[in-house]
Amino acid sequence: MGRQREARTADLPQLPGLLGAAQPTMHAPPRGQLLKWIGSKQRFASQICANFPADVRCYYEPFVGSAAVCAAFSPQRAVASDVLEPLVVLWKTLCDAPNVLCHWYAERWNRLLDGDKVANYFEIRAEYNRTRDPADLLLLVRACYGGVVRFAKDGSMNTPCGVHRPIPPAEFDRRAEVWRARLAGVRFEHSDFEAMVDAAGAGDLVYCDPPYADSQNTLYGAQAFSLDRLLAAIDRAKVRGARVALSIDGTKRSGRKVCDVPMPAGLFVTDREIVVGRSMLRRFQLGGQTLEHEVVADRLLLTWRP
Ligand SMILES: C[S@@+](CC[C@H](N)C(=O)[O-])C[C@H]1O[C@@H](n2cnc3c(N)ncnc32)[C@H](O)[C@@H]1O
Repeated sequence: MGRQREARTADLPQLPGLLGAAQPTMHAPPRGQLLKWIGSKQRFASQICANFPADVRCYYEPFVGSAAVCAAFSPQRAVASDVLEPLVVLWKTLCDAPNVLCHWYAERWNRLLDGDKVANYFEIRAEYNRTRDPADLLLLVRACYGGVVRFAKDGSMNTPCGVHRPIPPAEFDRRAEVWRARLAGVRFEHSDFEAMVDAAGAGDLVYCDPPYADSQNTLYGAQAFSLDRLLAAIDRAKVRGARVALSIDGTKRSGRKVCDVPMPAGLFVTDREIVVGRSMLRRFQLGGQTLEHEVVADRLLLTWRP
């Protein structure tokens, strides 16, 4: 409960003149991801944010991953969290000590490209799996195959080396500056989602992008995710007056359901389709085949009527 208290809106710094201030009207994400992440919403962040209200008191994002939606929305007061601690350390370091983050990247990038790139990648990956050093994770997310940042049940990262050359340190530095400015109003927390959803109250907005029920819940390691637990927390948040948006598996264009997650009656009152195109994850799972016919749409469920 301590963490839950910590995250309550009333406990956040009161920034004069910002409560109820207008949100940016355009929600384009920054050009170029800072971190690649499996299930990143970078390409659809504008579509998602277009459904968000303008009068947000505090924005919560409890499955923040690569922070694509958070950076596109660029809220003035927010709490963003994830259960994966090394990832949260990267975001905190961006906010508190950006030079350190840029140094981590430059140092690992030079090490990767000094000699045999694939062998160096596996060495850095083995180091991450031994120590969970966030600096190693930073290199891995930029250098891994197809940006498919995948974790085994024991939390070890197991994606092979990508064929591409990761962005050079100068470009990383440029992106770090842009992303830091976009996330200036955000406090990052290492937390399970439930405490964060439970912290939201009247006037707040919670955006949830959980591991997909059917395909993703083993990709992020051994976290305790349960859709029922999330739906119960969303129900409680709604009763307190928070608005909650939930991204969830959609349908293939072919019409066959990828996932048919039953939702409690009356919890969500708006159902939007977010067209996401062909899935990189599915392509990876099917051994690199391109899936020309498989256009996928996510659903964005809202507990309110815009
Ligand atoms: C689909 S991804 C979010 C992607 C994000 N929207 C983006 O644009 O990158 C789901 C995230 O939920 C996190 N996660 C998994 N189980 C969790 C839990 N129990 N509590 C909080 N976060 C969790 C994973 O570490 C992962 O970063």
